[in-house]
Amino acid sequence: MYKKLIGQKINLRKVVPSDAESIYQNAKDKDICLTVPLPMPYTLKSAQDYIKICQKKWKNKEEAQFGIEDKDTGKIIGMIGLMNLDFKSKKAEVGYWLGKKYWGKGIAKEALKLILKFAFSNLKLNRIYAKVKSRNLPSSKLLEKCNFKLEGRLRKDGKFKGKWDDLLIFGILKDEF
Ligand SMILES: CC(C)(COP(=O)(O)OP(=O)(O)OC[C@H]1O[C@@H](n2cnc3c(N)ncnc32)[C@H](O)[C@@H]1OP(=O)(O)O)[C@@H](O)C(=O)NCCC(=O)NCCS
Repeated sequence: MYKKLIGQKINLRKVVPSDAESIYQNAKDKDICLTVPLPMPYTLKSAQDYIKICQKKWKNKEEAQFGIEDKDTGKIIGMIGLMNLDFKSKKAEVGYWLGKKYWGKGIAKEALKLILKFAFSNLKLNRIYAKVKSRNLPSSKLLEKCNFKLEGRLRKDGKFKGKWDDLLIFGILKDEF
């Protein structure tokens, strides 16, 4: 089911062991580890283990995790993936993070549009959803800009930095893309 996805500023591709260093450099920031969430502290070994997990999940058709590749350098600057792939109900959850120094340049928007096209056209899914902490404004805005609709709010769904937080559910259907 894999296909490399070609964009303008970035491509989406499978990650390989040699990507571990750049994934580590971009993921170790606590603002990323705390929101996604990733292991903390995030080490080079965390990235190496993660790459192996991604490869296994691709093989088992459980997840489709793509590295966000900077076209200028070929380096992986973030990750975006389809999780909880459910081919029977034609749906999946999307999750993503991007290295902090690349924020605010439209990169996540490009990556999200590429993976939505892949999900709806290649995997023939019908619904993609995302779960976002209510205080994560950048992520909610990104989803809205890509035509996701706010579908619900799970009140006080979990604790974040010692404070209760609501969880927002966003979704997009194939014919809304
Ligand atoms: C969420 C995240 C991926 C956004 O990446 P990004 O590349 O900076 O986003 P983009 O530049 O593509 O922005 C897309 C849209 O979201 C909005 N947006 C992005 N950051 C924003 C911010 N800080 N405040 C308000 N709106 C914001 C912009 O309006 C933009 O729309 P526009 O292009 O029409 O102006 C990035 O902030 C991140 O990695 N955060 C940490 C991890 C995380 O939160 N992951 C999601 C967990 S649910």
